[in-house]
This record gives sequence, C-alpha cells and structure tokens, in this order.
Amino acid sequence: MLKGSAKAHTNIALIKYWGKADEDLIIPMNNSLSLTLDAFYTETTVTFSEELTTDIFYLDDVLQDEAGTTKISRFLDLVRKKADCPLFAEVKSYNHVPTAAGLASSASGLAALAAACNQALQLNLSDKDLSRLARRGSGSACRSIFPGFVEWQKGTSDETSFAEPVPSSGWEDELAMIFILINDQEKDVSSRDGMRRTVETSAFYPGWLQTTPQDLASAKIAIHAQDFNKLGAITENNALKMHGTTLAAVPPFTYWSPDSLKAMNAVKKIRATGLACYFTMDAGPNVKVLCQKKDVAKIEAELANYFEKEQLITAFSGPGITYL
Ligand code: PMV
Repeated sequence: MLKGSAKAHTNIALIKYWGKADEDLIIPMNNSLSLTLDAFYTETTVTFSEELTTDIFYLDDVLQDEAGTTKISRFLDLVRKKADCPLFAEVKSYNHVPTAAGLASSASGLAALAAACNQALQLNLSDKDLSRLARRGSGSACRSIFPGFVEWQKGTSDETSFAEPVPSSGWEDELAMIFILINDQEKDVSSRDGMRRTVETSAFYPGWLQTTPQDLASAKIAIHAQDFNKLGAITENNALKMHGTTLAAVPPFTYWSPDSLKAMNAVKKIRATGLACYFTMDAGPNVKVLCQKKDVAKIEAELANYFEKEQLITAFSGPGITYL
C-alpha cells in the first residue's frame, strides 16, 4: 500500500490564462500571473493498493460516479506511467470552500492530487516538476504549487511549461481579495469549452494574444514597485479583455450575470470614493475584488450596501503545497 496526503490552496489569476496551444499537454497560448490565496483549499489523500480493481474517488465523503472519476483516472494514468506503477488508487478529497459558492476549484484539487501522488509513489519531484505534473491535471493547478505571486511560463513543450514564484519582497502579505459570491441559474460553459470556442472563433482573440505579454510585463513592474493602483488597473483591464473575447465567439457566450455587472459597478463606485479596489472574474459569475489589507474592513462595509454579508468572503495571500 502506497499512501500520500497533501494540501493545496486555490489561486486567482490577475493576468489570465485563456486558450490552449496544446489541448492534450495543456500548453497555454499566453503566460499568466496569479495570487495564491489562503481561504480556499483542497486536502487530498491517495492510496495505491493491490487490493483495488479500479480507481475510486470520494469528494467530501461522497463516492463519485464514473463521469466524476474519469478526469482523476486520466491523471492517475499519467502518474502510474511516470512511476512505472500498475496499481489502482483510492482518492479522498475534501474541498474547503463554502457550500454552493460555485468556487469548486480545479486548481487546488489537481495540485493537491499531484502532490499526494508525488508523496505516495516517492517520485521526489522538484517544485518545478510538480508544477509540470499538476498542469496536466488542470492548467491553473500548476500555479497552486507556489505561494504568493506566481507566473506560469507557457513554454512550448511539456518540459518547458511550468509555474514559478514571482519575486515580490513579501508584498502579497499586504494585499487581499474579497470574493463576491453570485448565484446564477445559467448553465456553465466550462473553462475548457470556453477557451476552445474562443481560440477557434473569436475575432477578438488575436487582440488578447497581442496585448497580454505587455499586461504581464506591466504587472511584474507594478509588483516590483509595490504600486497597488497600477497592478489593480492592469488586473481589471486584463479580465475585461478576456471576457470581451467570449462575446465575439461563435456562438457567443458570457460568464457575466446581472449581479456580476452590479458587482463590477459597485467596485467602480467604491473606487471613486478614494478606496483603491479593482475587480477580476474567471469562468463563472463570481466577482473577486483585489484590494489592500489595510482597506478590507472599509471595502467590506461598502460592499455590504450592495450584497448580503454571507455573499462576501475575504481571502489573503496563501501558502504553496504542504504535505500532511
Ligand atoms: O485551469 P482551468 O481549466 O480551470 O482554467 C482556468 C481559466 C481561468 O480561471 C478563467 C483563468 C486563470 O488563469 O485561472
């Protein structure tokens, strides 16, 4: 019996990963830059055993059906190949995210699974190689290996596509991200399908690719200079551009719901009062507000004029992978 356990935190991109150059290897079209957060995480234990005749996957103590297990099994196949191990595995994951928040995170989930496998099969992977492995499970998972600010170097191959920490002199400890949880009845377009459709059909996608390297360079300069307003402005603009590409896809789609717009407008109004805060959004209706730790209480109070207190969750900078 070979057993490993690990914990990984979620990350939110300030410069988004949007589009794959290689769907199988998960090589992205552009570099991305994220902040690892403390509030949401996954703890996973994996046990490879001769007694198992198939892979089994429990999420929050609920046995998952075949569809839910397939993605995990595909990832385990990669690991089995790497370790030259024929054994099936039992995977037990606990997602520490508020129920029904729509934040079920593939980033923390696949990063925790990769690290648990690394421990169970004694692969002794470096952080870089662990990031490469997590990437194969879910692209954004490669960034959750590291704490604080992280850049995913898109690379051109399995070898050269991995995340690494961005030097920041610990500035991330002065920042925060307030999540505005928005319930939405719409059926989701997965990030995988959304990316594919956008890359293949959106007239705006070339504009995304042309301008994102400059956004990333500017974000790194802002981090180096600890210039919050500059980083915030780039973050917001980059997110709006990503979401703009979806409107020009064929058929078009959007992750915005009426309440997403309400949240974005609230952030702009709060900013106009002199409180520095900027929004970003991912492949769903929730809005995340980047701000400075010193302003969190005031911004939470302002946001409470627009949303229920239960809809607001504040996260701070979080750690990289930990083994349990
Ligand atoms: O790694 P995935 O397949 O969950 O894709 C993540 C895509 C975005 O969240 C929209 C952007 C990002 O960089 O995290």
